[in-house]
Amino acid sequence: MLQGKHILLGVTGSIAAYKAAMLCRLLRVAGAEVKVVMTPTAKEFITPVTMATLSKNPIAVEFYNPENGDWHSHIAMGEWADCYLIAPATANTLAKMAYGIADNLLLTTYLSARCQTVVAPAMDCDMFCHEATQENLAKLRERGVVILESPEGELASGLMGKGRMMEPEQIVEAIDNLFKAKQTLSGKRVMVTAGATIEAIDPVRYISNHSTGKMGYAIAEALAKRGAEVVLISGKTALQTPQGVHRVDVCSAENMYEAAVAEFEQSDCAVMCAAVADYTPVEVSATKIKKNDNSFSLELRKTKDIAFELGKVKGDRKIVGFALETDNEQSNAEEKLRKKNLDLIVLNSLRDEGAGFGCDTNKVTFIDASHREELPLLSKAEVAERIADKIEKLFF
Ligand code: C5P
Repeated sequence: MLQGKHILLGVTGSIAAYKAAMLCRLLRVAGAEVKVVMTPTAKEFITPVTMATLSKNPIAVEFYNPENGDWHSHIAMGEWADCYLIAPATANTLAKMAYGIADNLLLTTYLSARCQTVVAPAMDCDMFCHEATQENLAKLRERGVVILESPEGELASGLMGKGRMMEPEQIVEAIDNLFKAKQTLSGKRVMVTAGATIEAIDPVRYISNHSTGKMGYAIAEALAKRGAEVVLISGKTALQTPQGVHRVDVCSAENMYEAAVAEFEQSDCAVMCAAVADYTPVEVSATKIKKNDNSFSLELRKTKDIAFELGKVKGDRKIVGFALETDNEQSNAEEKLRKKNLDLIVLNSLRDEGAGFGCDTNKVTFIDASHREELPLLSKAEVAERIADKIEKLFF
């Protein structure tokens, strides 16, 4: 389950920090990518060099590098992470987390991370049992933080009792189990179309559009992470295939139609995110078209609307479509929802700043037969998660 997962490991200033080295190594051996953020005190217990070497990534401690002003973005780290694991977590850090104090990078990252946070407390037994610590842990648990149980045993102070950090092997197992529990789409096969189609004019020129495929690829990745079997039918894009996704490359709208129809037979759901050409040249010249006159006409014919064709035969299967509009957004999207027999349409408007081609953010509105839900400007990865939530609801 940990293969390809992004684990952000937060290390705080406890003697158990030495075990974070082994934890980091075990996570990597299990296939996870690991980045480490440390509190300044944690550096007294284990060196950044050790953690950087084991994680294969530079360590983040301060908000910025005083030498060159390079900023460590807590938001970017939080977005990168599939899980934020704070191990060891001291009484001090747990208290600050409970009260929203943000006086170091590890804590600001906690406040901005949207992924699951997991803490492995590590402290002396009296500190652990203190009402204040127990209240803080209860508060965090209530907010959805997973608290890894501290086993009883001998503590660094020589005392016996609760407060030891859970052993690294068990922590890795617990994280693995958490990901397993999140496999909400396992057993579902979902096809996603993404990117731009290419309609050849001659051996040199083509008609296409500005789609980069970022939204569709983010959706494919989000669905695969939830355990769905994902087939990504991809037009032109420069993006890498997300982990665990099977990619089928196509060129023209016709190619995409054929691939989508074949794939839909075996799918439970289709997410139609591709920017498909609506028209294609009637004839493709076998040789390069020479320039002659001042004007030049190209006869185009309509392509097949893939979403519409799948909508006609969908039966119990689900279809999510997209509407990229420049005007009359709402009514155009509603019309498409009906006409194409979609279960959900994701509307974005080119009039919204931060939405549309190429950017890493999007501002979308979900529209189904009975509801309309407008989301704020979010990263495309976050929009993909919200779409995955919607797809889950379509099934269950
Ligand atoms: O009608 P319009 O092109 O605006 O509809 C957009 C939706 O239809 C998107 O989900 C897009 O992927 C899908 N579509 C398609 N085949 C086409 C054109 C659009 O699947 N030929």
